[in-house]
Amino acid sequence: MITAEHLKTRKVANGKAPVSALTAYDYPTARLLDEAGVDVLLVGDSLGMVVLGYPDTTHVTLDQMLHHISAVARGSQKALILGDLPINTYNSPVQAVETAQALVAAGAHAVKLEGGRDKEAEIRAIIDAGIPMIGHLGMLPQSVKEEGGYKKKGKTEEQSAALIDAAQCLEDAGCCGIILESVIPKVAKKITEAISIPTIGIGCGRTSCDGEVAVITDLIGSYPWFVPPFAMPRADVATDIKRAAEEYIRFVGKKLS
Ligand code: KIV
Repeated sequence: MITAEHLKTRKVANGKAPVSALTAYDYPTARLLDEAGVDVLLVGDSLGMVVLGYPDTTHVTLDQMLHHISAVARGSQKALILGDLPINTYNSPVQAVETAQALVAAGAHAVKLEGGRDKEAEIRAIIDAGIPMIGHLGMLPQSVKEEGGYKKKGKTEEQSAALIDAAQCLEDAGCCGIILESVIPKVAKKITEAISIPTIGIGCGRTSCDGEVAVITDLIGSYPWFVPPFAMPRADVATDIKRAAEEYIRFVGKKLS
């Protein structure tokens, strides 16, 4: 069983194995990934896009997250289950704690929300309530509308300094790790070196973080309509599904004609 306390120690610089994290949204996927030995199962609000068919994560509700976290919890035995707080469910410390408690009651072992210093009060409130937290810095998908798209972070000195400061804020608040999304590799590496909790990267280059997180549909090729440039496909499930369905349709056609 991977605990949040264990996760907190997984710094590559200290000789520890890198953290492997994958998203999961349902029972069979969670069970397969858990049996494969992944460290963290992230029930991310990417759910909205790759499972529920919304254009971005801003449509995801707390009820939807709870539904999918409980399915993942039924399928997993060893991995740490990390639940995302969806948009507009952590607008105050009190609301953040209530949301985090609901995610834990559904089966999450730790929770994640997007933001740094701007969310310090909410993050501290969750940790004070005894719930392990993982931060999320860099490109923040819940802000896609305000940002006008998905943009790389850390390109300017100002952005780089703000990211390092935010990472230190999350470490001081007691987070067990930080997900860095689409931060340029040089800055992701600086953050990794500046803090003593692990960084888990997505779209941050190959060697700049203490671990890697991937969206499962990118890894297995089951969502071919949008594949981010940093995806590392290891299977082509979309083609297999279509081929199986076409064979089935031909079989039914022959059988009934
Ligand atoms: O929702 C999600 O899947 C995430 C990852 C992209 C880190 O937050």
